[in-house]
Amino acid sequence: MSAEGKGGTISIDGQEIPFEAGQTIMDAALAAGIYIPHLCHRPGLTPHGSCRLCTVEVDGRNAAACTLPAADGQHVDSNTVALNEVRKTITQMLFVEGNHLCPGCEKSGDCTLQAVAYYLGMLDGHFPQFYPRREVDASHPDIVLDRDRCILCELCVRASRQIDGKDVFAISGRGIHASLIVNAPSGRLVDTDIAATDVAAHICPVGAILIKGHGFEVPIGRRTFDTHRVSEAGRDARLPLVRPRHADEE
Ligand code: SF4
Ligand code: FES
Repeated sequence: MSAEGKGGTISIDGQEIPFEAGQTIMDAALAAGIYIPHLCHRPGLTPHGSCRLCTVEVDGRNAAACTLPAADGQHVDSNTVALNEVRKTITQMLFVEGNHLCPGCEKSGDCTLQAVAYYLGMLDGHFPQFYPRREVDASHPDIVLDRDRCILCELCVRASRQIDGKDVFAISGRGIHASLIVNAPSGRLVDTDIAATDVAAHICPVGAILIKGHGFEVPIGRRTFDTHRVSEAGRDARLPLVRPRHADEE
């Protein structure tokens, strides 16, 4: 099929795969079990196109796989040395822009940023560390917000709006001054209507939103990315990208 608005086939790294009407290249790749590195994308949420990690070459031009609609006959290159080098550079920049000190972070082993860095063979941050000083909000009894680790992916913003039916988070400012804010006149998480059972409280790919009191329930070595490569977790819905934990869990 070739008419616009219908399904068809595309090729990714030489592999022909089908797509359905309305699917993006990322949707089609995930459905076919092909991993394209990504951070700001989760199936079921509106694509955001901000992290650029999913950049692929489509018929010779770079595009974000999570936002570009699949179209019949597209030739997509993803797993190339050049694209993976760009992805590694983006990942290094994300690391130095925040305080991603993995050995001291309770998200280690469940962190998608860390897992992507391993996947891409990142050995160091390469760039000078920013060491940003952003406010930690521990006001909520069940949830802590450590903005130093926020990569501004807006997954929590979208999950709160599109799944939880709330509007707890937003990004304020631009560039180096951008930061996550919460929807309360006081600016404190405790004064929002977030609950520990909200998807937004669990979707953070890094350690910026954490459920209190559950940090080391799963020992290092048995966490999601200790036992699975991010490429498996990213394409297999049975493997959680976010380990669900609730404040009232035993
Ligand atoms: Fe993304 Fe987490 Fe920052 Fe929300 S707090 S924008 S989910 S990194
Ligand atoms: Fe596509 Fe982030 S996953 S831009």
